Amino acid sequence: MEVKEATGRLGVLMPGLGAVATTLIAGVEAVKKGIAQPIGSVTQLGHIHLNRKTGDNYPKIKDFVPLAGLQDLVFGGWDVYEDNVYVAASRAKVLEQHTLDALRPELEALKPMKAVFDKSYIANLDGTHIKEGANKYALAEALMEDMENFKDTRGCDRLVIVWCGSTEKYTEVSDVHESLSAFEKGLKESDPRIAPSMIYAYAAIKLGIPFLNGAPNLTVDIPALVELAAKTKTPIGGKDFKTGQTLMKTILAPGLQARALGVKGWFSTNILGNRDGYVLDAPENFRTKEVSKLGVLEDILRPDLAPDLYNDLYHKIRINYYPPHGDNKESWDNIDIFGWLGYGMQIKINFLCRDSILAAPLVLDLALFGDLAKRSGLSGVQEWLSFYFKSPQTAPGFRPEHDIFKQLTVMQNALRKLMGEEMVNPDRLAFAEEEITA
Ligand SMILES: NC(=O)c1ccc[n+]([C@@H]2O[C@H](COP(=O)([O-])OP(=O)(O)OC[C@H]3O[C@@H](n4cnc5c(N)ncnc54)[C@H](O)[C@@H]3O)[C@@H](O)[C@H]2O)c1
Repeated sequence: MEVKEATGRLGVLMPGLGAVATTLIAGVEAVKKGIAQPIGSVTQLGHIHLNRKTGDNYPKIKDFVPLAGLQDLVFGGWDVYEDNVYVAASRAKVLEQHTLDALRPELEALKPMKAVFDKSYIANLDGTHIKEGANKYALAEALMEDMENFKDTRGCDRLVIVWCGSTEKYTEVSDVHESLSAFEKGLKESDPRIAPSMIYAYAAIKLGIPFLNGAPNLTVDIPALVELAAKTKTPIGGKDFKTGQTLMKTILAPGLQARALGVKGWFSTNILGNRDGYVLDAPENFRTKEVSKLGVLEDILRPDLAPDLYNDLYHKIRINYYPPHGDNKESWDNIDIFGWLGYGMQIKINFLCRDSILAAPLVLDLALFGDLAKRSGLSGVQEWLSFYFKSPQTAPGFRPEHDIFKQLTVMQNALRKLMGEEMVNPDRLAFAEEEITA
């Protein structure tokens, strides 16, 4: 496969310049200045094992595949609030103020473009930095203009978009999402079932710009946009960055399953006090998150294959808005497991995490890998990026893979395949191969 070199500048655009996006931007600027390390970024710090007889057979991923360098990244985005990135990052209170102050000129220079927004999708936001247009199609056109202007004025060779906007209310695929023609008609008629995130995604994919979705909203996970991605040969992926509690779940559950230990119940509760938590305090928005988080265990434990171990599994998830914790989410898991002869045991996890500290490196990796996919001629749903998502989008007919270790193997095999190296267990990973040659 021909993988084009990453020459020139890569524009990374994010709808939603909130806690996650500003933590990413400030983080990359800090790394560029040599005052911090990109911890948690697999593209920057991860290695890959290669079956080479000579030379380095454990190179860093960034030395193995041609990725855009951090020096070549140019950030931008949209938000419903006018705050520049310095103000938004200070308000988000994820990074210490002295770090932000050290980067102040770079961060202040980044001002959001006006957003496409619809309050009916996010009840708890009331920003006014919003585009107006005759209909949703006109709004999509305005976004395309933003993207092209950004590329020209900032001297970018390529763009990639990662949705870092708030979680929209729960929606299901309906007829307006079923085909590209129905969707375009819906845009012109401002169909209320077309969410703002779908308008951004439509605009990006129409221009052939890779689009990855970090929130649990459907966004690109609808047949109409999958069809458009095939037409314009655009890589897409989602949904919902895998951080915090779900990250722990997909690390632990494969171990329990591997040892044929039963699981009777898994109760997960969280408190967080950032704007994301406030948005999720609205029941319709929480529902979107809940659905995204619930699929994980069933897919790893497979009660259909091992009913004696997992058929009675009771899985419950709660998120409560608790302002004093800010972005420092705290989660508790109570796991009721059982072993030999059915004897019960319990595992308790109390994770005092930092939401955006875990999410920011995922945005970086998704942007770099989304761009790599485009330069490699890959298009459609990039299942090899499931590693990064709570609720991985799949091509029609495929089961999502949630086990983080299998996801990592699939991702690394995709990279091996791209670079013409021998894959690990290629027979068992037909999934990666099919995706990569599609
Ligand atoms: N931090 C994590 O660990 C994590 C994990 C998984 C998913 N996520 C998701 O990532 C997203 C961002 O999280 P966050 O903590 O940065 O939230 P945040 O509330 O700090 O930032 C989201 C920003 O999006 C903006 N926004 C909302 N709708 C918009 C629109 N239509 N156009 C442009 N901007 C819009 C909001 O004004 C806000 O500034 C959320 O959807 C969250 O659920 C975060």
